[in-house]
Amino acid sequence: RSEVNSDHAATRRQARLGPEPDPVAAAALAELAGADGIIVHLREDRRHIQDRDLELLRQTVKTRLNLEMAATPEMLTIAREVKPDLVTLVPEKRQELTTEGGLEVAKNLAFLKNFVQDLKEVGLRVSLFVDPVTAQIDAAREAGAEWVELHTGTYADAITRAEATRLFQELLNAARHARSIGLKVKCGHGLNYRNIKPFKGREEFAEFSIGHSIMARAILVGIERAVREMVELTRW
Ligand code: PXP
Repeated sequence: RSEVNSDHAATRRQARLGPEPDPVAAAALAELAGADGIIVHLREDRRHIQDRDLELLRQTVKTRLNLEMAATPEMLTIAREVKPDLVTLVPEKRQELTTEGGLEVAKNLAFLKNFVQDLKEVGLRVSLFVDPVTAQIDAAREAGAEWVELHTGTYADAITRAEATRLFQELLNAARHARSIGLKVKCGHGLNYRNIKPFKGREEFAEFSIGHSIMARAILVGIERAVREMVELTRW
């Protein structure tokens, strides 16, 4: 299953501060092409997705809407109002080009436990974006999350095949561990049409969150084809 991140359509729009391309239209087309869900990251600095996008997506998404956000009071209020189907908590730094690593759950356990509780109180389901590390996965369960999204960015950045194989094994072990303690597992960040291949057919990895590579391909071949090709690679 793959959830498609439509932030990148909004990034293009914000480059001109105009109305196009509309990430809401991109999301609708992605769904028509077989996406299992739509993800957006509403950042504190609103560099791509705007509040208006989130509101419209909540009204129009027919699969599942996954809201990525930082654990801040402002975002808590928004999530409780908009009620996405899943809230994914991610670390956020203003200076970064994109999310740079998993949440430090273990060190912020008390804070995150409260935050997750505040989300669950209004019926929201919660996923924590973590590095594929046992201590962080255990802490995610302790914090009350239903899901973990394993950060695949380090794997995606591997230069040699040996390194990629080692980092893939790390993800596999992390996914097995997460499942063994009752967590549902997603994977995301930096995944593309090539590095997704080792995941194929492995039941440990049921869901993926993919944005940049799909939208980059969409510019060249169209969004429906780009999404369909990724859906084929992530369905088993
Ligand atoms: N998962 C999380 C938590 C992210 O922050 C991002 C980037 O927005 C993604 C997945 C998707 O990453 P990419 O755009 O590299 O596919």
